[in-house]
Amino acid sequence: MDVVLDFQDVSIRRGPKTILDRVSWTVAEGERWVLLGRNGAGKTTLLQIASARMHPSSGTAYVLGHRLGAVDLFELRPRVGVTSAALADRIAGSESVIDVVLTAAYGMTGRWREQYEALDHERARALLEVFGVGDLAERHFGTLSEGERKRTQIARALMTDPELLLLDEPAAGLDLGGREELLAALTELARDPRSPVLVLVTHHVEEIPVGFTHVLLLRDGQVHAAGPLDTVLTAQNLSECFGMDLVVERHGDRWSARSGR
Ligand SMILES: Nc1ncnc2c1ncn2[C@@H]1O[C@H](COP(=O)(O)OP(=O)(O)O)[C@@H](O)[C@H]1O
Ligand SMILES: [Mg+2]
Repeated sequence: MDVVLDFQDVSIRRGPKTILDRVSWTVAEGERWVLLGRNGAGKTTLLQIASARMHPSSGTAYVLGHRLGAVDLFELRPRVGVTSAALADRIAGSESVIDVVLTAAYGMTGRWREQYEALDHERARALLEVFGVGDLAERHFGTLSEGERKRTQIARALMTDPELLLLDEPAAGLDLGGREELLAALTELARDPRSPVLVLVTHHVEEIPVGFTHVLLLRDGQVHAAGPLDTVLTAQNLSECFGMDLVVERHGDRWSARSGR
């Protein structure tokens, strides 16, 4: 089994603040991880290392077999797909949906003089279909619903055929219908053995798609617990991670949590 991420004692310090504190985490091919933790726990920072946007202040981080700090980060980046609200904000509302996906092949947003191959067009259209937004290919990105935008962004992140896909709070801001549509799309992705390794950040156990296999609980920059969902996502672990008394329930393949008081 190939190791996709291998972090040993990874710390990130900024001035006096330790954002990540000796994080050790191994992710293997075929796994689908959820990253849970309170606001400010360090989840987005951890994804920045996993996407080769940042290297550790100390410790060692291997991404797709390459040690960060010893490899040109620009070479690794196309092999890791990322979606986040920050990236979405950089997409112009006037851009067509198909171009939002197509331009990913060139690691840029905004269409300008690039020559797109027929194969790229086919792939972009196929990805939009998979995420249920194929009919919207010619629309301006700015006219889509929040849910349609999220699914378009995931299609975009998959355009380069990455080996690893990082999703930073993809369900944030969606209404119930939008959330459930997104979860259905992510479930399909999670179940497809050809999909990249997935890492999804959320605050809400209700947003864990069916088919996800592992969870890492981050608290104040430290790994509180990590491993298979079935054994690690317990009321005790979640309560300790979020610093409050929580009841965790499993309903078939979905989860919920609420205050235990
Ligand atoms: N460049 C930075 N300099 C100083 N502090 C930072 C920097 N980036 C993030 N932080 C802080 O690190 C902590 C973790 O941030 P982040 O990884 O965004 O957490 P999360 O995604 O879990 O909410 C927060 O307290 C945040 O304010
Ligand atoms: Mg964050």
